[in-house]
Amino acid sequence: MCVVGASGKLGRYMVRHALERGYEVVGVCREKSVAKLAEFEGRITVFPGATDDRAVIARAVHGCDAVLTVLVPWGVRHYASGTAQAVLDHARPDARLVFSCGWHITRDGQDAYTWTFKAFATVFGRLAKLARVVDIDDQVEACRRVFASDTGWTVVRGSDLEEGDSQGLPVWSRHVGDPVLASNLTRRVDFARFMVEAVENDALIHEAPAIVGRLTPSALAHAGE
Ligand SMILES: NC(=O)c1ccc[n+]([C@@H]2O[C@H](COP(=O)([O-])OP(=O)(O)OC[C@H]3O[C@@H](n4cnc5c(N)ncnc54)[C@H](OP(=O)(O)O)[C@@H]3O)[C@@H](O)[C@H]2O)c1
Repeated sequence: MCVVGASGKLGRYMVRHALERGYEVVGVCREKSVAKLAEFEGRITVFPGATDDRAVIARAVHGCDAVLTVLVPWGVRHYASGTAQAVLDHARPDARLVFSCGWHITRDGQDAYTWTFKAFATVFGRLAKLARVVDIDDQVEACRRVFASDTGWTVVRGSDLEEGDSQGLPVWSRHVGDPVLASNLTRRVDFARFMVEAVENDALIHEAPAIVGRLTPSALAHAGE
């Protein structure tokens, strides 16, 4: 299993889950972040480099059954779409590909967002792009390319995140706006678990699950539905 963006918070949780499940793990992260993977020394193979570096990705995903990719909209140089494209182009055609993003990504336009969510996304997106720090539109483009591909993809859409002990596998819905998601909070460790477990869940192929913590009030209120 290859984890692209392994040194970030979500990435390191995914590496831990993957090792616990007995996978042989390969990680890709920026050269300056390799030290953040020190706890896994001797247990994973690290390919240092930008995650949109096609040559690095080609080497890292070679022979992998699954590739988990953290899509991040950092910078204004198409980092997210470049990363997604490199994975789509170089992973084995039959590999399971799982990508992370947020609720703001919509696959079919059927998501229903609150006005506060929309206002925050619009204002934050514009200011961050003006400051040339973050380009949300590029993460949208990255996911558009994934949705259009004929690979075995899943795009996991995270709610707001928090740290803390695991609450178990998050619950999910096809659409933001579903009352089960109303609490809008997931433990990062469980987001990572959902990403790793998606690899062996064929029902999630070509799905874009929006997730929420399984012990949040909205998930508990709708348990069993
Ligand atoms: N944060 C949230 O509340 C939230 C909510 C919903 C969904 N998500 C999704 O969850 C995933 C993980 O997000 P996260 O916020 O928890 O962050 P994270 O796991 O800490 O990951 C951040 C990633 O971005 C990389 N990065 C940081 N600065 C960069 C730069 N200037 N250029 C290139 N790469 C850079 C980091 O690499 P280094 O280790 O090299 O710095 C790391 O791989 C993302 O797909 C995000 O869309 C997050």
